[in-house]
Amino acid sequence: MRIVITIGGSILLKEYDNKKFEAYAEIIKEINKEHEIFIVVGGGRPAREYIGVVRDMGESESICDEIGIQVTRINARLLQLALKDCSYPAIPENFQQALEFSATGKIVIMGGTEPAHSTDAVGSILAEYVGADLVINATSVDGLYDKDPNKFDDAVMFTEVTTSKLLEIVSGNETKAGTYEFIDKTAIEIIKRSAIKTVIVNGNNPENVRTAITEPIGTLITN
Ligand code: UTP
Repeated sequence: MRIVITIGGSILLKEYDNKKFEAYAEIIKEINKEHEIFIVVGGGRPAREYIGVVRDMGESESICDEIGIQVTRINARLLQLALKDCSYPAIPENFQQALEFSATGKIVIMGGTEPAHSTDAVGSILAEYVGADLVINATSVDGLYDKDPNKFDDAVMFTEVTTSKLLEIVSGNETKAGTYEFIDKTAIEIIKRSAIKTVIVNGNNPENVRTAITEPIGTLITN
């Protein structure tokens, strides 16, 4: 299978050390034995912090986004270093480059592309562009809940959610730089039109990403 894995920057940089990068590198190498993999890495806390500094300078949201994108590319580079020779040694800046780099047989890792969306959207567009069979979105939650599980003990996780329902849920969310929660609207729109199987899993345990290839886990987004 051709698989796109998006990994939140807040997952990789939770502890600000090398361990999560290396744990992901191991799992990715394992998955790569049987599947063709593309990876998209998010910005996490450093992106939000830099965006905060730039916003305080009075810069536009697009400039803030651009700074966020730069940080996602640094994070992508770190994962590339952890993967050593298995990964293509440059970060694609657009989808065509990603496809070109993948022709070498190496794992392709990228960050953001252009302003006004998150790396979740990059993952969905990349999946559509390269004709992926599956998108695995590694986030910091187990999946989508009916209410905030940190506040409500009786919150229930959806094992499946339709793109229409998901669009309803996120419709009130902000679209400012560094503020995308759970999954952004652009990503959902792309999932809707491409109908590529997309699963959201808790990426704090990288093993969940491998599980998502063969077993039901997290929340499956359906049409
Ligand atoms: P992400 O949206 O991917 O990270 O990129 P995040 O949601 O803050 O956090 P994690 O990684 O899931 O923990 C960070 C910021 O970079 C900009 C946006 O401002 C985004 O909020 N960005 C990223 C873009 O503008 N375009 C892109 O293609 C990617």
